[in-house]
Amino acid sequence: MLKDKKIIVFVAGGIAVYKTVALVRELIKQGAQVKVAMTENATKFVAPLTFQVLSQNKVFLDTFEEEDSEHVSHIHLADWADYAIISPATANVLAKIANGIADDFVTTTLLAIHCPVFIIPAMNSNMYMNPASKNNRMKISQFGYTLMEPDIGFLAEGYEGKGRYPELFRIMGEFEQFILKHEINLPLKGKKVIVTAGGTKERIDPVRYISNDSSGKMGHALAKVLRDKGAEVLLITTSSLNVAAGIKKVTVSSAHEMFKEVDKYFATADSLIMAAAVSDYSPKYEQNKKIKKDNQLVQLELVKTVDILKTMGSKKKKQLLVGFAAETNDLKENAQKKLIEKNCDLIIANDVSQKDRGFNVDTNEVTLFTLKREPLQLSLNKKEVIAEKIVDKIISMIQEKEDEESDTNRKNNS
Ligand code: PMT
Repeated sequence: MLKDKKIIVFVAGGIAVYKTVALVRELIKQGAQVKVAMTENATKFVAPLTFQVLSQNKVFLDTFEEEDSEHVSHIHLADWADYAIISPATANVLAKIANGIADDFVTTTLLAIHCPVFIIPAMNSNMYMNPASKNNRMKISQFGYTLMEPDIGFLAEGYEGKGRYPELFRIMGEFEQFILKHEINLPLKGKKVIVTAGGTKERIDPVRYISNDSSGKMGHALAKVLRDKGAEVLLITTSSLNVAAGIKKVTVSSAHEMFKEVDKYFATADSLIMAAAVSDYSPKYEQNKKIKKDNQLVQLELVKTVDILKTMGSKKKKQLLVGFAAETNDLKENAQKKLIEKNCDLIIANDVSQKDRGFNVDTNEVTLFTLKREPLQLSLNKKEVIAEKIVDKIISMIQEKEDEESDTNRKNNS
């Protein structure tokens, strides 16, 4: 999501400057282009060289240090940025922004900035709660800037309070949400997509169940890419893997629970992607007490679970329906059969007989089957990369479907 985004990080003088180093590193790791501007006070906590090495860009410090006679550097930098972050935002820098004061490189550039601004306040709790600071934050949010809430916890002063610099994962989660809000041209903006993930558990008794090796990695990777492309994602999962910020997660266990959740949201969704490994059979009766091991032979009666994909295939109207096929043999025949039998638009087949793909590994190799086109093979790669390519295909199919619909409407109206 951050790939090639141009981000200025404004660093003000507080103890949390050292934590901003990790933030800049993370932004670079995620593919952003980062330029850093520091106040003079910030340079007392961490040397500019640290940020220069990490960002691979010169650090801006002095308004009057104009290296390029063709540009006024603070205006040029303000025009360059797609997004700005102020980290840490001290009480002093917030007061200046609130009142339009521009007396150093950071505040002068901030006055000239016209991209969305994301602010990470960090200061002593008494300073944070001071009415003047509160008033400044209120004014700043009225300017349209986004302010994070600092953490509550142990402060540098040696006592607890509100004002701590937030943990990096929280910052990244909220920053990604902030970017998604401002990116208006994302291809899946306004689309609702349901993704299922993980292996279902069919209870035999309170301590035993039937399941499979699905980890949820493939489904969770798909959910994240869909979110990055602007979709409103509902992830119905059995997995406890982390879920990227902004994705609505519903945890389920059995095939029946998964069915109920998918069914609840399917009518209003634009697409359903069934990456979950749903058990085909479930014990006919779930014992409410642990089965004793007195008998030599225990017979388990199994009944077929509801085929979620097939059921949604019979209900689908405008939805793009995507299924997976986990195969050990006759991949092409089986996948094409599932495509038709389950009324899918796309089947993603993986050969799960091989160790480096399919269940519970980080990589996958898949072939995409549709009714209209030749199969498309995506060669072995990380599940995150495979997910990106699958989502590209889904985007082009949604687009195609919409074009067909508007053609039909035009013909009907003429
Ligand atoms: O979770 P990972 O460890 O990352 O592994 C990924 C994966 C191997 C689980 C994934 O890539 C995959 O192949 N998921 C589908 C597994 C599966 O159940 O395949 P199937 O061929 O048995 O089922 C075909 C399709 O019908 C699937 O989309 C399945 O979700 C769906 N189905 C199956 C049974 C059922 N009762 N209801 C269903 O909706």
